[in-house]
This record gives sequence, structure tokens and C-alpha cells, in this order.
Amino acid sequence: THQWRGIIEEYRDRLPVTDTTPVVTLREGGTPLVPAQVLSERTGCEVHLKVEGANPTGSFKDRGMTMAITKAKEEGAKAVICASTGNTSASAAAYAVRAGMVSAVLVPQGKIALGKMGQALVHGAKILQVDGNFDDCLTLARSLSENYPVALVNSVNPVRIEGQKTAAFEIVDMLGDAPDIHVLPVGNAGNITAYWKGYREYAEDGLATHRPRMWGFQASGSAPLVRGEVVKDPSTIATAIRIGNPASWDYAIAARDESGGFIDEVTDREILRAYRLLAAQEGVFVEPASAASVAGLLKAAEQGKVDPGQRIVCTVTGNGLKDPDWAVAGAPQPVTVPVDAVAAAARLGLA
Ligand code: F0G
Repeated sequence: THQWRGIIEEYRDRLPVTDTTPVVTLREGGTPLVPAQVLSERTGCEVHLKVEGANPTGSFKDRGMTMAITKAKEEGAKAVICASTGNTSASAAAYAVRAGMVSAVLVPQGKIALGKMGQALVHGAKILQVDGNFDDCLTLARSLSENYPVALVNSVNPVRIEGQKTAAFEIVDMLGDAPDIHVLPVGNAGNITAYWKGYREYAEDGLATHRPRMWGFQASGSAPLVRGEVVKDPSTIATAIRIGNPASWDYAIAARDESGGFIDEVTDREILRAYRLLAAQEGVFVEPASAASVAGLLKAAEQGKVDPGQRIVCTVTGNGLKDPDWAVAGAPQPVTVPVDAVAAAARLGLA
């Protein structure tokens, strides 16, 4: 008789809704905060994973999308549009179904994971593959929303950030205070903006004694915030964060500087190493972009930037099932056996 009600009902007094707002929810949020044993040993810290792949459509985007679609519905919108590297489109498509709205999504051609494309398709989104990258898709989506009757649900829509800040609330509610460090992958930079807002609000209202340092990590081939300039042709195997001109650029820099944190880069090789470590040693299967946070923590630890004894939360942003190609690639083919216990036992090394 008691289940998590979704972020709007759970944090209603901290979100821009009223008693008459038509809440559109799939009961997102309330995701697990999982102690990471191997990462804790390696860093000498108390490391937790905020497992956002446990959201209804498999990524943190659902927190922002419940707000964005709810507000669009409140304002009478019949259709929504977004640019996406995949997860936003999957989330927008699912929440649009709940709201009885049409969704349109613009994705960079050939650069979104199959699972995410499948989600957008099965939820009935109108999909356009754009001959360009995510940044081009966002430019196009903005222009369409300004000139046609369709609401933009990217994180440039401020209510998306409002929804996503609830992840920080959940962490403080669970731990009893803010962590010392919060680590995130950074693409369009909406999420680091949202967490920082959430932590600030809780500290201002006395619900946390301090605010964490915010550590963000971009993929090396798509690291405009690290380089200090737009990356024209971003590249990385972590397609979710293949972004060269983040919309929330200034907010991300503010989060970094106000918190005393930093934004650095991790290579695709480091991302895949962390991806495999998370799956094989922590039991948590994430998509490659999500592993950028953990790759960054490990890099920082190797550089001596992680003082032992701290409490650290890494957000792992999306479910590994969205992009299983990297799990299968390079792994040995399972052997085939007859229906024969002796043969099976021999193959398993049990006999
Ligand atoms: N991790 C995943 C799995 C993502 O899908 C994204 C962004 C990020 C991290 C980065 O978050 O953009 O707030 O800095 N995905 C967007 C999308 C761009 O279209 O799904 P950010």
C-alpha cells in the first residue's frame, strides 16, 4: 500500500507546481544509493553510487521530464519536441504518452544507442535523424519550438533542472547530510547544474550542514568545458555525452567554481575500464557515458586528488541495457553444449 510517488509528489513544496497542476508521472526518482565496495577500497573513501538507471525509462532524464511534461500539459501544449543523444528522447516519448501528447525528437544520425532509439520508436515518437551532431539538433529544436506550436523539453527549459535537482535531495535525505564530493558525467551540463541547485537549496534551508565539491567529467573528444572553447566535431564512444557546445555552459562553470570543484576529462579507454569495473566488481551495469563519473574518480585518485576518509557520491546516469554493444564487444562467445549435465559440468569447471 506504500510506494514512492514520483519526484513531484515527494518534493512538491520544493517544485513549481500548484494544487491544480496536472501531474504527469511514471513514479520516477527514489533510486538506489548503493555503497560501492571496490571503489571505496581503492580510494580509501566512503563511495556511493546513485543508480539513475533504475528510473522508469532507464536514466535520470525522467526526473526532469516529469516536470517538463507536467508544465507543458498545464500550459495546454499538445506536442513536445527535444534534441537528444538518446535518453532525453526516450524519456520525452514515454512521458508524452502518459500525457496524451505527441512527441517529436531530433537525434544525430547514426550516433544514438539502439536501445534508446527502440524506446523512442515503441513509445510512438516522431523521430528525425539529423545530418549533424547533438548541438545542431538542439539549434533546430529551439528554432522549431520558437516558430511552431510545440514545447521544448530540453534542459534549456528551466523546469527540467527543477526536476533533476531532486536527486541531490534524495542523497542528503538518505545520508543525513551532503557528501563531501559529488561526481558526475557532463554533456550538455544540465545535470551538474541541477545537482548544484539542489544541494544549495538544502544547505540554505538548513537541511545540510555544507555543500559538496562538484567534480564533473567530460569525454576527452567532447570536452569543451575543459578546453574552454566549443568543440566543433565532438567524438567519443560515450554517445550520450558527445556534445561540443553545452547549453548550460555558464551554470556548469558556476557549479565548479562556487563549490570549489573542477571539471576534467577522461579518455574513452578510461571510460570503458570504469564501465567494466562497475559491472564486474560492483554488480552495477551502466551505459558508457555513466561510467565517466567513476572513471574520473579513479583518475583523480591516481593523481592524489582524493583525500581518504571522505564521503563521495558518483551519479551513474543511465542503464547499461540501453547500449549493450560495449558489454558484448571483445567478450568471449559463450560455448554451446548438448543437454548433458556431465558435459555442462565439465565446461563450467565444476567437475
Ligand atoms: N549521462 C547520460 C546517460 C546522458 O544521457 C547524459 C545526457 C549525460 C550523462 C550528461 O548529462 O547533458 O545534463 O550534462 N544526455 C542528453 C540526452 C544530452 O539527449 O539524452 P548533461
